[in-house]
Amino acid sequence: MEEVAPPANPAGNALIKISRVGICGTDLHAFKGNQPFFEYPRVLGHELAGYIEFIPPNSENLKVGDLISIVPYLECGRCLACRMGRPNCCYNLKVIGVHIDGGMQELLSVPVDHLIKGEGLSVEQAVILEPLSIGAHAVRRAGIQPGENVLVIGAGPIGLSVLAFAVQQNARVSVMDINQERLNFASQWTEIGATFSPLDSPLEHLMEYGKGDLPAVVFDATGSANSMMASFNYISNGGKLVFVGLVKADITFNDPEFHRRELTLLSSRNATKPDFETVKKAIQAGIISSNKYITHRSDADHLIAEFEGLFDPDQKVIKAIVEF
Ligand SMILES: NC(=O)c1ccc[n+]([C@@H]2O[C@H](COP(=O)([O-])OP(=O)(O)OC[C@H]3O[C@@H](n4cnc5c(N)ncnc54)[C@H](O)[C@@H]3O)[C@@H](O)[C@H]2O)c1
Ligand SMILES: [Zn+2]
Ligand SMILES: [Zn+2]
Repeated sequence: MEEVAPPANPAGNALIKISRVGICGTDLHAFKGNQPFFEYPRVLGHELAGYIEFIPPNSENLKVGDLISIVPYLECGRCLACRMGRPNCCYNLKVIGVHIDGGMQELLSVPVDHLIKGEGLSVEQAVILEPLSIGAHAVRRAGIQPGENVLVIGAGPIGLSVLAFAVQQNARVSVMDINQERLNFASQWTEIGATFSPLDSPLEHLMEYGKGDLPAVVFDATGSANSMMASFNYISNGGKLVFVGLVKADITFNDPEFHRRELTLLSSRNATKPDFETVKKAIQAGIISSNKYITHRSDADHLIAEFEGLFDPDQKVIKAIVEF
């Protein structure tokens, strides 16, 4: 820990006193030094909730002392992606806690239009908006139709966020994972029709579950290239595959098969402010429980010693948050 000067706070920004920081896989890679696009030193923390310490006059009626959550993706507002209304994949995107210093510090300067009002939420509910918004965004991209058979592969914190919002589309949602503990957790998390293992004749079991039909929509949230390549096999003809997880590798597929089945392949990156609002509403409606999602808590004094354990599968971590 070190003392630093308070951050500069340019016009249009608010100063936030950070109260909770969620930890995710990106942070572990950065901590271990094997996140290739990371520049060091870097203050981590992109899943953030806190209280307004200073704010200029604003149209959203946000004031000093208010609880807020932060949309950590800072877009340029000028590039074609931004002009197409897709700031989450801005050419010049700067993610707080990834490309620029993040929230593991007392005060953070954030553009006012990247604050989400926390009214009606607890601070623990406010800090999970970011990871859950990843699933809300992926589900929005998929355009699921009611009654469709949907498969989510990978039941980590990201897959769980996809599951929560896929179920809201009145779809028949099932989940696949190599880890039985994760499948058990997913079954407690939301209304799941079936669970599958990729190691136990998955195609056969998927067909059986769909009474002869494969899923119309498949999400892969594993971060495994093998799983992503296998996932093409699980979709119905005319169906959609959404890559929510990502790998630093090439993904290959058989083009004649892709063509014959006229599949749609989508990526899903980050989220947008409306996705955060979708998550907020789901939490307020009691559809998503922060108490279920947050499995571990740490604080500034214990964080360094506990950090790697926060990703140990044996410790059954889904989401760990740091209290400041
Ligand atoms: N879309 C985005 O903007 C975004 C944001 C954050 C994270 N991610 C990515 O989402 C992915 C998932 O993140 P997470 O934090 O949930 O990860 P995680 O490692 O906690 O969960 C992945 C799950 O996939 C399972 N899995 C691994 N290989 C598998 C296989 N071959 N078949 C079936 N299941 C398998 C694991 O058992 C685990 O339960 C990562 O690739 C991460 O980088 C994407
Ligand atoms: Zn994260
Ligand atoms: Zn841009």
